[in-house]
Amino acid sequence: MARVKVIFVCQTCGAVHPRWMGKCTECEEWNTIVEEQAEQEGAHLRPAIVAAAEPVAVTDGTHISPERLSTGVGECDRVLGGGIVAGSLTLVGGDPGIGKSTLMLQISHHVAQRGGRVLYVTGEESFNQARLRADRLGTLHDNLMLLTESNVSVAARHIRSDQYCFVVIDSIQSVYTSQLPAVPGSVGQVRECANEFLRLAKGEQVPIFLVGHVTKEGVIAGPRLLEHLVDTVLYFEGENKQSLRILRSVKNRYGSTNEIGVFEMRDTGLNEVTNPSALFLNERPEGVSGSVVIPSVEGTRPLLVEVQALVGDAHAGSPRRTVTGMNPNRISLLLAVLEKRAGLHFADRDVFVNVAGGVRLDEPAADLAAALALVSSFRERPLAPHLVAFGEVGLAGEIRAVNMARQRVVEAGKFGFRRCILPKGCMKDVEIPGVEVWPVSELAQAIELALQF
Ligand SMILES: Nc1ncnc2c1ncn2[C@@H]1O[C@H](COP(=O)(O)OP(=O)(O)O)[C@@H](O)[C@H]1O
Ligand SMILES: [Mg+2]
Repeated sequence: MARVKVIFVCQTCGAVHPRWMGKCTECEEWNTIVEEQAEQEGAHLRPAIVAAAEPVAVTDGTHISPERLSTGVGECDRVLGGGIVAGSLTLVGGDPGIGKSTLMLQISHHVAQRGGRVLYVTGEESFNQARLRADRLGTLHDNLMLLTESNVSVAARHIRSDQYCFVVIDSIQSVYTSQLPAVPGSVGQVRECANEFLRLAKGEQVPIFLVGHVTKEGVIAGPRLLEHLVDTVLYFEGENKQSLRILRSVKNRYGSTNEIGVFEMRDTGLNEVTNPSALFLNERPEGVSGSVVIPSVEGTRPLLVEVQALVGDAHAGSPRRTVTGMNPNRISLLLAVLEKRAGLHFADRDVFVNVAGGVRLDEPAADLAAALALVSSFRERPLAPHLVAFGEVGLAGEIRAVNMARQRVVEAGKFGFRRCILPKGCMKDVEIPGVEVWPVSELAQAIELALQF
């Protein structure tokens, strides 16, 4: 009897290793390598994604912009770059329970309502479970077909034989192809099934959404290797206990990345939040030290977010540094700059930094707001009223220019902020009626202006 060949595959990055090891040498993650049966020889010789095509001049004007299908959810359309593109393959990742199935069902319902037939393949839930959810969300429709199946070739047969406008696979980890001996959810299965759906999407020109669970921070269970295979990668994020959800595009072959859509989870489903700044500023305390609002930019959209800092006496041992919503290394850097350039000593102080509303601020423009929040709490003095601040802080304490300054000031003005501290290098085009701009080139100058009252 021929021995079955085994390989060792990393569940995080999909790298194949000749033997088991504790740490993957590709992605440097620990304990992610599992044993799998190798694919049979020749199995990699798969058919091309679409039937052989002829070369076409790039100037050929017949394929200008792709046709887009609206999801019926404005926030979702924007994240996708204007709607769902025919023949595209999209991966929707997120923690279990975050609301992926809910969102997919709501989109499916919108498409069905507009007269398009939708196939919702659920390999995770029974027909009854899926129907119960559809009932609860008010998304029952004759055009919405449920298929409780986890065999890819059965799903593929249905997709080929019927005219569907939109297909959802919930989830990619629950489906399998009988060509591989491995269990569903294993690296080989997930990769092979996703490839099959890619061929289907391109061949039948039907848009397919794959739902994928995230197991560890930022990693879709099994393979991150799906990210390069699909056209678009969306992540659905949020704190499970809070109702706020953010849909983020991290890759998009048909639109800009880093767009976000904001939703609120209710028992009747996800509701769009068209004015997230209002939501994020909702419970902001007035006249309290350690709170600064930054007009941040996510994708193309400005968003007002509150950064909070609390600086207190450290009691025992080494002082604490707890940061949520920002990069802790960035905060350490800001503390060092404040110490050196503004003479504030944090060595015997506990420092807590938090971004309100479960938002993540990853852009350097948030530096200045975080630094001012730290100083404000350190000195126990609130900032000047109606003030926002943005800018990157350099190691020499210089304030560096950031992009989209005008949009930031406009957003601040829209919400009644009347003063804005910004980098000197951002002074072009920022005269907005009702908002006073205070250009700064150094951190010390920004602190003086912000705490002047
Ligand atoms: N009967 C219910 N009533 C209200 N909310 C519910 C109910 N069932 C589920 N939910 C909400 O829906 C969420 C699960 O959403 P779901 O779309 O199934 O997530 P995912 O597909 O990402 O695992 C739960 O975390 C809960 O907040
Ligand atoms: Mg689900």
